[in-house]
Amino acid sequence: MWLTNSSVGRKMVMGITGLFLVLFVTFHVLMNAVALFSPEGYNAVCRFLGANWYAILGTLVLAAGFVIHIIYSFWLTLQNRRARGNNAYEVSKRPATVEWASQNMLVLGIIVVCFMIVHLVQFWAKMQLPELLGEHLEFTGMGFVYAAFGQVWTLPVYLIGFIALWFHMTHGFWSAFQSIGANNDIWLSRWKATAKVWATVACLLFAIEAIWFTVQAQDKANMEKYGVNTEVVVENAIESLITITDAE
Ligand code: HEM
Repeated sequence: MWLTNSSVGRKMVMGITGLFLVLFVTFHVLMNAVALFSPEGYNAVCRFLGANWYAILGTLVLAAGFVIHIIYSFWLTLQNRRARGNNAYEVSKRPATVEWASQNMLVLGIIVVCFMIVHLVQFWAKMQLPELLGEHLEFTGMGFVYAAFGQVWTLPVYLIGFIALWFHMTHGFWSAFQSIGANNDIWLSRWKATAKVWATVACLLFAIEAIWFTVQAQDKANMEKYGVNTEVVVENAIESLITITDAE
């Protein structure tokens, strides 16, 4: 099939799945922003995105998007390395105009994936997964957020993830438009500017959220209000999450 056999087709798959993931990131950062203004509203959003059929369908489509994007990224990188033959690792000759991010998309993507593994273990594996396995959990979304950001290592790990995501998105976003054929010079420079603004706003908002949650999580009363056992959260986040109860 053309989308798998030709290099143009593969690039197009990369671009389309990448743009889909940009939409997800945008939705996700806006959804988290609800928690900045209304913790109760955020709890309601998290309950809505539990293990209902539409949330499960959304997760499956999203997972497919990630898996295809990741498989194709390795495939295209291998293909490029083969095409460059012995010069595969020779970076010193690259033209000055080639962005640093474009040369390092695979490494940046791998850092984002590592961040996501930590993130999914902290949240998805404790919120949606148990429900999928038939357990009925009484929890609040804010409780999970405070329990996670109450850990000292969470904020630095997330900030590293956001920086990698920023570089990955600024290059990936405009190059996706190039891959799907929108590559005249005027539009390409417009997409580059849009990509920078979009990635900056999204990653900055993620960082503001993470810092705000970390500050809020320092307040024990705040934690306990949303069902986090503060005796154990300092020692062991996982134990504290197991003891979460519905605070409402
Ligand atoms: C301040 C930063 C962030 C916070 C507080 C946050 C919070 C959450 C929460 C609470 C969930 C669980 C939702 C549920 O299962 O009902 C979740 C899921 C998820 N997050 Fe994040 N997130 C953050 C940043 C990110 C970033 C930067 C990415 C990716 C680049 C990401 C990717 C995901 C994915 C893939 C899921 C699973 C979605 C699903 O269940 O379908 N998150 N996040």
